[in-house]
Amino acid sequence: MLKRTLIEAANAAASEMLRFKDLDFKVSNKEGINNLVTEADHASEAAIISVIQKNFPEHQILSEECGELIQDSRYKWIIDPIDGTVNFAHGIPLCCISIAVEHDNKMVLGAVYNPFMNEFFIAERGKGATLNDKPIRVSKKEKVINSCLVTGFPYTYLDEPNGPLQVFERFIRKGIPVRRLGSAAIDLAWVACGRFDGFFEHKLQAWDSAAGFILVEEAGGVVTDLKGQPYSPYQPGIIASNGVLHDELGRWVRNEI
Ligand code: IPD
Ligand code: CA
Ligand code: CA
Repeated sequence: MLKRTLIEAANAAASEMLRFKDLDFKVSNKEGINNLVTEADHASEAAIISVIQKNFPEHQILSEECGELIQDSRYKWIIDPIDGTVNFAHGIPLCCISIAVEHDNKMVLGAVYNPFMNEFFIAERGKGATLNDKPIRVSKKEKVINSCLVTGFPYTYLDEPNGPLQVFERFIRKGIPVRRLGSAAIDLAWVACGRFDGFFEHKLQAWDSAAGFILVEEAGGVVTDLKGQPYSPYQPGIIASNGVLHDELGRWVRNEI
């Protein structure tokens, strides 16, 4: 029932994204420069929440645009109605719906669905991860120097020592490819299916990473914070990888190499 609801909610949101794609939708700005929200984000969010509340009215919800619904339940749905909104607003087909289910403070289900590429990733605690119903695994790359990485940048730049651009520069100067897709949920899903060997970012919110977190773990990878400690989506930094090169990637990110 939980998984069926997750799939139904993601499908309902995808219909909204596809419906708005060719319309002249309204775009507004949030905090920071070019931190956009569109009518489609709100429509997608409403569609997801209505499916969840139809089936589980007592569950808690944390959703990017409408905030938190705190109730007396051991379940919490963590929702990003469109991850990659800037891409969506520009017609770039790298954006998705990201929905995770947390039970007793542990992620138990996650879905990342990019309807423009027809790619639906699902992970279930203890049962693995799939892309369009086929099992996926992380890559086997052993060394950071041979890897293909991905990262992202916050809307409001973090001017701090060893900040996002400094870490990025370090890899680029060594000739290591680091892509920037503009959707953290897709970045994580693509680590899970082995397209990327690793991902790091300095400042994410729980709705950006919750579903991707369980996808990477269930595909055999490792997710930690920037210090290499067990990951919590309620703090900002993340390193996700195939596991094999995780410690080395962490040292590169922290400038300990
Ligand atoms: C953003 C994307 C991006 C990441 C930003 C997020 P949004 O989410 O995940 O890749 O770098 O930090 O805020 O605004 O498109 O939902
Ligand atoms: Ca997001
Ligand atoms: Ca979003």
